[in-house]
Parts: sequence; structure tokens; C-alpha cells
Amino acid sequence: MSTYSPDRDKHAFLTDIQEIRRRAREHILNGAVTEGYRGDRETVIRLLNEALATEIVCTLRYRRHHFMASGIHAQAVAQEFLEHANEEQGHADLIAARIVQLGGAPDLNPQGLLTRSHAEYVEGDSLIDMIREDLVAERIAIDSYAEMIRYLGDNDPTSRRLMEQILATEEEHAEDLRTLLESLGSDAE
Ligand SMILES: [Fe+2]
Ligand SMILES: [Fe+2]
Repeated sequence: MSTYSPDRDKHAFLTDIQEIRRRAREHILNGAVTEGYRGDRETVIRLLNEALATEIVCTLRYRRHHFMASGIHAQAVAQEFLEHANEEQGHADLIAARIVQLGGAPDLNPQGLLTRSHAEYVEGDSLIDMIREDLVAERIAIDSYAEMIRYLGDNDPTSRRLMEQILATEEEHAEDLRTLLESLGSDAE
């Protein structure tokens, strides 16, 4: 057993600071992406672009639902749809900014949007239909984001934290929708 040496142990968890300083000066135009970045940058950017497409499809679907909601319970539900639409847009912006930080480009091409997105765009005929489709989309986002978070692990903590924060909101959205379905007496199983 070696004896405790504060001087040595202080640096045991960290690459030599001189080395970190030296590396930071190299490839300075890579900005936030340093040599110590452990993610597979290309894969992370592709996954983030899929999440971006998912958020945009969700924004569009919620906005459509906001304007199309009608019937006796429509007003409160339409308001909820609008709030969700705006929050999904906020998520899209955060993800796009992170893609740029990683040296990528946010894919905002409308062509292929639905293919890149995990969630679907279903218009829905009735208020209940719309809520049900939104809930399905949220559940898809929840599952795929959770998988992404597991993939990111310790290799890209910033992207992981971003996706964790977004996941928490999607879970709130799903709960809001479940409550709405229940209060409207839907027989959704
Ligand atoms: Fe979202
Ligand atoms: Fe959501």
C-alpha cells in the first residue's frame, strides 16, 4: 500500500494541466470541441439532428392541433397545445445550438424531416384523437431520448445533460396529455 501523497493524488484524476494547456492551444478553431472530447462527434451530431427533426415535427403537429381544436372543451386544450408547441420549438433551438457547438450544422431541410424524426405527424380528426396522437409522439420521444442519453453516457456530458433536461419536459408533456385524456373521459386504453 502506498502512503497518501497530497501532491500526487491531487492530479491523479486529471491529465497533467500542462498537457491540457498545450492541447487547448492546438486546433483552437474547434472551439468547444477539445482533444479530450470523448464522443464520436459524427454520431452525436447525427443523433442530435434526429432529435432536432423530432422537435420540429412535434412543434408543427402541436401548432396544427392548436388551430384545429374545436368543440366544447377546445379552449383549454388548444391553450395546452400552444404551450407544448412553443416548448418543443425551444427544445429545437437548444439542440440546434449544441450541434453548432460540436462543429456540425443543424439540418433544417424540410425534405426528409419526417424520415429523420422519430415522432410522427398525425393530424387527428377529433380533440381526443389529437391528444392521443400527441401522447403517442411524446412517448416515442421519451423512449428515443432515454436511449440517446444512455448512449452519450460520460462521453459527452453536455449533450447528455441537455437531452436529460428535454426528456424531463417530454415526460411532463406526456403527463399533461394523460390527465387531459382522463378528464375528457376518453376510453383510451
Ligand atoms: Fe420537445
Ligand atoms: Fe413534448
